[in-house]
Amino acid sequence: MKVIHFSAECYPVAKVGGLADVVGSLPKYLLEQDVDVSVVMPKYGNEWIRNHAFETVFEDTAPLGDWKFEFRIQRQKGDILGFPLYVVDIPKRFDRPGIYADPHTGSGYTDDFERFASFQIAILEWVNRMKDKPDVLHCHDHHTGLIPFMLTQSYRYQDIKHTPTVLTVHNGEYHGVFDRDNVYQLPEFDNQHIGLVDWDGKLNCLAAGLKSCWQITTVSESYMDELAHNSSGLEWLFRNEKQKSQGIINGIDTNVWDPQTDPMVAHHFGKENIPSGKQKNKEVLCEEFGLNPAHPTISYIGRLAYEKGADLLPDLFREYLKNSQPVNFIVLGTGDRQLHHEFLALNKNFVGYFDATLDFNEPLAHQIYAGSDFMLMPSRVEPCGLNQMYSMRYGTVPIVRKIGGLKDTVIDIGEPNGYGITFYDFLHEAARKAVQRALDLYRDQKAMKSIRRRIMSLDFSWNASAKEYIKMYNKLIEK
Ligand code: GLC
Repeated sequence: MKVIHFSAECYPVAKVGGLADVVGSLPKYLLEQDVDVSVVMPKYGNEWIRNHAFETVFEDTAPLGDWKFEFRIQRQKGDILGFPLYVVDIPKRFDRPGIYADPHTGSGYTDDFERFASFQIAILEWVNRMKDKPDVLHCHDHHTGLIPFMLTQSYRYQDIKHTPTVLTVHNGEYHGVFDRDNVYQLPEFDNQHIGLVDWDGKLNCLAAGLKSCWQITTVSESYMDELAHNSSGLEWLFRNEKQKSQGIINGIDTNVWDPQTDPMVAHHFGKENIPSGKQKNKEVLCEEFGLNPAHPTISYIGRLAYEKGADLLPDLFREYLKNSQPVNFIVLGTGDRQLHHEFLALNKNFVGYFDATLDFNEPLAHQIYAGSDFMLMPSRVEPCGLNQMYSMRYGTVPIVRKIGGLKDTVIDIGEPNGYGITFYDFLHEAARKAVQRALDLYRDQKAMKSIRRRIMSLDFSWNASAKEYIKMYNKLIEK
């Protein structure tokens, strides 16, 4: 079975969030189960891409509105990622450092429609001319949502028109919305079906993909249910397409995320030496930030964004900090400028108890997972969430809001066989109680020890979910 994944992100080549982690790990597990899989992404002008070699396997020109653009499909030499990676080189569109925005200014690119439309057109031109055609095309999020639409509706792609398409929703908040006239930049299609790209009078790339693809998947089952009630305007569409939707929980790359071998962690540890391994890593972490390693340490890692609920944190932390409670809080992430200001003020006022590093820093993230006692995730929306799984793999107890994938992966200590702390209401008081329960748990070192052992034994690898994807691919191929 031959499957090609299309994505705007893939770890370690280009990453903004969890989408990259998924696209950079699931293919390895599919390969292990004999799926002929590859990943295709844009050729950005970033450091990783500049430092690696590529060879051209296909080149051509294609139409975009009244213009023609040149593109090259290149394969990364040596397959160092563990699966074949192809990049689509489109001069003047992607040879810039940022993925969705200019990293220097933080603002988005104004030609996003042209960028991602030409990326998707180039892909279809190439796949349509492949000798050995794929059995399934697997798209991720709105950046690739026009592929299922163009594939079925454009006159150009007759040879692959009937290839099954999957669209995985990692984030239903972002739709890729543009003026409707942009649709005429796409290769000529059956105008009768123009409604497929339309949502509320706009060209909506996610909606186009959801309507046109064969199969929708979401990255957890709970998220699939939530999208029908909360997807920034697409609720009705998700409800309408329910028969072709399935939730498949993400896994994590347990080879990259292994506390026994992780090169980004100061002291390696495993199930046999959890307390001392955690303690040594905590000391390294606390030393770095001038915190007291005798205090329980609660961390937050992630984008400082509304969806992630990061705006709940400053007041919550302040409440503990101003009473000089013996606890450390650590924040790692970038995003909302107002939150940057608030965290910088906390940095200044609570030296020795609080540290915020307002940056994207993968090695530091690994050390925080290894050295923290708790990981806090107060997300408003969490399609799957990977950080709770990384945390547990490193013996760090999750404190999470009970929604989406967090609900599907964390059982509260108050329930049978529970191993985490959950809360539901998105309110200061609910989060405060959850943190308090964590601090109480921390005082009971025996309970802490057994929970750590428990979470480090849970299997969050891709093994089970990769099988689910293969089952789904097979069903589509048989249709
Ligand atoms: C997005 C979601 C996150 C999910 C990830 C990978 O980043 O916000 O919850 O884990 O995609 O699917």
